[in-house]
Amino acid sequence: MVSSSHLVALLALACGAQAAPAWVLPFWNPFAMQAKSYSFSTYTGFFKYDTQEGTSLAAVAPNFGLRDNVTWDGLARTLLQLNIDGAAHDGSSYKLVFAGRHGQGYHNVAESKYGTALWDSYWSELTTDGNLTWGPDARLTPLGIQQAQAVHDGWVAMLKQRDSAPLPTKLYSSPLSRALSTMEISYDHILLNNPNATVETPAANGNAIDSILGGIVAKLGEARYVKPEIKELFREEYGEHTCDQRRTRSQIAKDYPNVRFEAGFSEEDQLWTTTREQDAHLDARIQQALTQVWNEAQQDQVISLTSHSGVMQSLFRVTHHYPIKPSTGALIPLIIKATPQK
Ligand SMILES: *[C@@H]1O[C@H](CO)[C@@H](O)[C@H](O)[C@H]1NC(C)=O
Ligand SMILES: *[C@@H]1O[C@H](CO)[C@@H](O)[C@H](O)[C@H]1NC(C)=O
Ligand SMILES: *[C@@H]1O[C@H](CO)[C@@H](O)[C@H](O)[C@H]1NC(C)=O
Repeated sequence: MVSSSHLVALLALACGAQAAPAWVLPFWNPFAMQAKSYSFSTYTGFFKYDTQEGTSLAAVAPNFGLRDNVTWDGLARTLLQLNIDGAAHDGSSYKLVFAGRHGQGYHNVAESKYGTALWDSYWSELTTDGNLTWGPDARLTPLGIQQAQAVHDGWVAMLKQRDSAPLPTKLYSSPLSRALSTMEISYDHILLNNPNATVETPAANGNAIDSILGGIVAKLGEARYVKPEIKELFREEYGEHTCDQRRTRSQIAKDYPNVRFEAGFSEEDQLWTTTREQDAHLDARIQQALTQVWNEAQQDQVISLTSHSGVMQSLFRVTHHYPIKPSTGALIPLIIKATPQK
């Protein structure tokens, strides 16, 4: 009988220090399989976002904010080693999370137009001022679409680098349109096909990205396309503001035919009321959402989460990350450690 820690040690040998590390773990963490709850923290040292330096970076930072003294390859090796060690000891597991905020939506324009005080006390409860429409479920503006395209272009440039960030093997999104559109545009022709084809691919150059990515993916030996998943718990702080009221499941499915709904996703929005959700409630729900992700995507070491300003700030609180207020279209990588609670 081989004990679980022996098994992990054997797998560690099999994974070999010399071979390029796989982004999808080749083993199951024997401790974490039944975890009902985790404590989350941030593993620091790789990103400028770990400190105050991260607050002044561009929405899509050079080399995605990786520190100059480290490499993506080094990160890959560290992440795998941490996961091997964690599985052999207390069941801790680590994921590199690409947290993205949606591009500018019509509600963002309206808030700037009226100022936050008037927006919060009055306009946010309406759906339109006759010129701008932000509710229910605000859409991306043309600038918001451009911001999402900048994330896309950042990934294309990244994947041409010799030392390149790994692509996520799971894509999670909030059910709100502005996040779903941002995710589809960000990973269009990279990890999915956006049916709206928002990203232009010049005909003459149409296969260039494909061949670069094809080479990278062949190297990794993994399926390239990912079916994104909608998680209700990743929606923005809800209640009162009509921009945060979601469409029905059927309407979302019609606009985003390529995404999957998590099990139990309801037809109607059952969470939004005229009372604003409080931060403590939001934090508890993000803790719960992360717990679901850790239980569902145990072998995925790199995941993407497209959401909102409120959700990302909550994510940073829950994982004890340096507090950052993300701009629209921001892409912020972080390594999250989860330790199963007894
Ligand atoms: C890189 O620099 C950061 C910040 O100074 C530090 O925390 C980290 O340990 C360094 N990493 C390596 C591998 O030297
Ligand atoms: C809507 O836009 C028009 C033309 O720019 C302007 O005259 C009008 O005052 C605007 N109405 C509101 C409610 O902002
Ligand atoms: C995609 O197209 C549908 C149908 O025309 C539209 O309702 C939706 O807003 C579009 N989404 C994006 C990503 O622009």
